[in-house]
Amino acid sequence: MKTYADMTREELLALKAELDEQFKTEEAKGHSFNMARGKPGVSQLVLSMPMLSVINDESDMNTVLGNDTRNYGDWDGIGECRRMMAGMLGVQKDNVIVCGNSSLNIMYDTVVRSMVRGVNGSKPWCKLDKVKFLCPVPGYDRHFKITEVFDIEMINIPMRDDGPDMDLVEQYVNHDDAVKGIWCVPKYSNPTGISYSDEVVRRFANLKPKAEDFRIFWDNAYCIHHLYDDRQDEILNILDECEKQATPIWFTFFVPHPK
Ligand SMILES: Cc1ncc(COP(=O)(O)O)c(C=O)c1O
Repeated sequence: MKTYADMTREELLALKAELDEQFKTEEAKGHSFNMARGKPGVSQLVLSMPMLSVINDESDMNTVLGNDTRNYGDWDGIGECRRMMAGMLGVQKDNVIVCGNSSLNIMYDTVVRSMVRGVNGSKPWCKLDKVKFLCPVPGYDRHFKITEVFDIEMINIPMRDDGPDMDLVEQYVNHDDAVKGIWCVPKYSNPTGISYSDEVVRRFANLKPKAEDFRIFWDNAYCIHHLYDDRQDEILNILDECEKQATPIWFTFFVPHPK
């Protein structure tokens, strides 16, 4: 069977018209459709109910590492929380910053700060004539929305079975200093579900960016999803690979799913 990727524009438009008709027929039956993707089912929501009562006035609020969590935090935040996340991400606690519970907010904020303040002292992106981002496609629409909001030119990079087309990625990143970032979901990448191969991760770590302020936006949202299933993919740890290459060019975002 032909996939969408195999179809011509005309075939896709014809299929869309057909599906629109089907949708109208179903809609006329009075169904109410919610097309939001990734929405947890009721039984999954029930799973997280104990979280609402796990902390109460009997709870010990002093952490093993010494802070009283009822008070303002210390310089390095809540150490246990960083340690817990470090275990999930497979990195050292010192490489973890724990922020609020929406990673998309953090990604948005990171792009805003790069726009307004620049990255590590380099020129703010808003003062540059052109800022480009690489966007592996198909990819996550909400990543693309962030770069779209700031008029960042988005360059499509075809996805393969083992990750983005790295020949193209290297060509852009290593030769064009307007290319400032790339969106990545390295594990169970949406919407196709593929995971990056070891070779792809190594090639990311081995990039030689033309721009000093180039960053990989490594959204490892699904790093623990396999805990709920026997099947699991393992991806190489990009931080370890970057350290081997002495190229500190990574960002990791963690999403504590399921919500
Ligand atoms: C790849 C990816 N990144 C980020 C998010 C959003 O995460 P958050 O709710 O932490 O903003 C999602 C949501 O499902 C996602 O699929």
